[in-house]
Amino acid sequence: MKIRLDILRRESGETEPYLQSIMFETEDENATVATALSEINKSEGIRDLNGKRVKPIRWECSCLQKKCGACAMVINSHPQLACNARLKDCEKNGCIKIEPLRKFPVVQDLVVDRSVMFENLRLMNVWFNEQTKADEGSAEISYEASRCLQCGCCLEVCPNFYAGSEFFGTSAMVPITRIISELPEAQKKEILKAYREHGYSGCGKSLACRNVCPAGIDIDRLLVNSNAAAVWRRKIGGRNKKK
Ligand code: SF4
Ligand code: SF4
Ligand code: FES
Repeated sequence: MKIRLDILRRESGETEPYLQSIMFETEDENATVATALSEINKSEGIRDLNGKRVKPIRWECSCLQKKCGACAMVINSHPQLACNARLKDCEKNGCIKIEPLRKFPVVQDLVVDRSVMFENLRLMNVWFNEQTKADEGSAEISYEASRCLQCGCCLEVCPNFYAGSEFFGTSAMVPITRIISELPEAQKKEILKAYREHGYSGCGKSLACRNVCPAGIDIDRLLVNSNAAAVWRRKIGGRNKKK
């Protein structure tokens, strides 16, 4: 398999981006975009399509197992994990366009600064101060929410999210759902308020985020449960009886 990778590169956040084409050849039919980027960077003297020597491609990865979210990028216009994007599934006419996620500041090439996602979680106190346990009715919801990778793919397609906005997007609403589902009722007031202010009120409910989550999280179900708890004061995972 011979693929032309058109990579949107940038020396830093202050310089202009430019498209660079690099050929990649492999016999591995399961090779992913992550495989291609790694192999290209390992090769002696990387050259572009015109034979010019070019610098290694800066990108991020850790697990290479679809578990950490670090390798999220835009591949042929779809946000996805490079380690989960098989070349043969992504290519169109022998080409794949690779760009950094667009909702975050670019650091270099495909590396972006996703700290706004983590700052938003901090602003809403999305963590447990003590050990908690989901009850039978909410355990499944809590587990589903815990699978979020904080990759940012959902923010890429969200029409309502931008860095600095009061609306924090799905990457915040999903972890909040876990907190809501595990905290005792008496301690939920502040987190429910944060969910209403930074989640529910800014969300257009279009569910564009539902189709891109690489973890396959049932976002629809989680948001329905959190909306019910935060707005209509109903129990997470319960039978929607008023408390
Ligand atoms: S439902 Fe729409 S507005 Fe709400 S978080 Fe998902 S993409 Fe964004
Ligand atoms: S909800 Fe899905 S797409 Fe959004 S940050 Fe979590 S894992 Fe990524
Ligand atoms: S490197 Fe961890 S998800 Fe791709």
